[in-house]
Amino acid sequence: MALITKKIKGTEDVLPKQSYRWQFVENIMREESRAYGFRELRTPVFEHTELFARGVGQTTDVVQKEMYTFDTKGGESVTLRPEGTAGAARAVLEHALENEGLPIKTSYFVSCYRYEKPQAGRLREFHQFGIEEYGTQSPVADAEIICLAQSVLDRLGLSDVHLELNSIGCPACRAKYNQALRDYFTPYREQLCTTCLSRLEKNPMRLLDCKSPEDHKIAEGAPKITDYLCEECEAHFAQVQKYLDSAGVTYTINPTIVRGLDYYTKTVFEFVTDCIGAQGTVCGGGRYDGLIEELGGKHLPSLGFAMGMERLLMVMDAQGVDIPQPAPCALYIAAMGDAAKIKAFSLLKEVREMGIPAETDVVGRGLRAQMKYADKLGARFSMVLGDNEIAEKKIKVKNMESGAQTELPLDDSFAEKFAGLVLETDADFGEWEDIPPEAINEILKKI
Ligand code: HAM
Repeated sequence: MALITKKIKGTEDVLPKQSYRWQFVENIMREESRAYGFRELRTPVFEHTELFARGVGQTTDVVQKEMYTFDTKGGESVTLRPEGTAGAARAVLEHALENEGLPIKTSYFVSCYRYEKPQAGRLREFHQFGIEEYGTQSPVADAEIICLAQSVLDRLGLSDVHLELNSIGCPACRAKYNQALRDYFTPYREQLCTTCLSRLEKNPMRLLDCKSPEDHKIAEGAPKITDYLCEECEAHFAQVQKYLDSAGVTYTINPTIVRGLDYYTKTVFEFVTDCIGAQGTVCGGGRYDGLIEELGGKHLPSLGFAMGMERLLMVMDAQGVDIPQPAPCALYIAAMGDAAKIKAFSLLKEVREMGIPAETDVVGRGLRAQMKYADKLGARFSMVLGDNEIAEKKIKVKNMESGAQTELPLDDSFAEKFAGLVLETDADFGEWEDIPPEAINEILKKI
């Protein structure tokens, strides 16, 4: 049968046998966010186009070339979010979250959409974990979010990912720097790509992250922002480094990091690796002290970062990081006959209520086929339930790996006793990480 269509270029499916890898990464991100005091914010996948045009910046590649923008039937121009910062800022402003006290600390998981040329590590639909912190100019906050990013990467077991740090100053230092860039690039006018040529007047810093190799080469000799920082920006940057040093976070100062989005001020940073090819930036972020005002709010200095989920998973793969697989099915109940099927169904509910994964036949297989399926599922224990077991009110539970059999009573205590058997067999609980700790405590209390 021919499929009527396939997935869109630059998008990926996460199949059931892979999703535990995503969940493992997301759980660590959630735990670290909580430890650092960030709470989740969820925003819509599309916003008014104007939000990104103003927020991300008219002269960026993202806005000029990569957005999925369309008119709704009502005639509004809307855009699928190309990143998470602008939508989060819009929500913070719209709900006046500053009234709840500063700083406002938010985290998010978002899908993002950019019409870029797909390649390894570069998708048209990708996913980000992000952090945004609003209402602080203190360098402690810069160091705090960088430490959080570092903790996530450490807990994911990644080595070979290093932090590159820079400051791109405030509008005052930027004005002088922009002039220096114009002076530098103007003699090369004839060699620049057309996009860069149009950016030379409006936003010359964008020339520094042009993807064209010729322009990139010219940009190598350009003046460095770090030579143009005002006293305040320089002091701020020095403080950020002091805090990072005190937390033992290692970094390299890289004055060529300017980031591809327009809202950044002062601190910018990227975590990069060489192990997944050209698209090696797994995390990018920085301060954006002017964004909230740009979007119509009052002055609210803010900062954040986002990590690319797909890229992180690629690095984990490349570095052979072992991601614990969730526990397989703990109990398969093969049932014979109508009465047994009904009994199996009610037993299954009791076992599942303890948070223990259990299965029975739902497709009408015969006994042998059921046992074969239990094996395929990787069920840890199995039992065969028929009229005899129901009459005698006891049942043999078989350890599928060792073949050992244990008899359990088929009464109200079955689920608890089975849980006891599970915990006895897997004494370190290592394989049962997806049983919620509360459920394990409950089980332990009862046995
Ligand atoms: P960004 O550098 O554009 O920054 O994206 C952040 C991360 O998303 C990148 O480091 C990369 O890992 C991932 N990423 C970006 N584009 C793609 C793509 N086409 N395919 C796969 N992964 C991709 C931002 O989006 C900012 N909003 C980050 C931020 C938050 N700054 C302050 N707060």
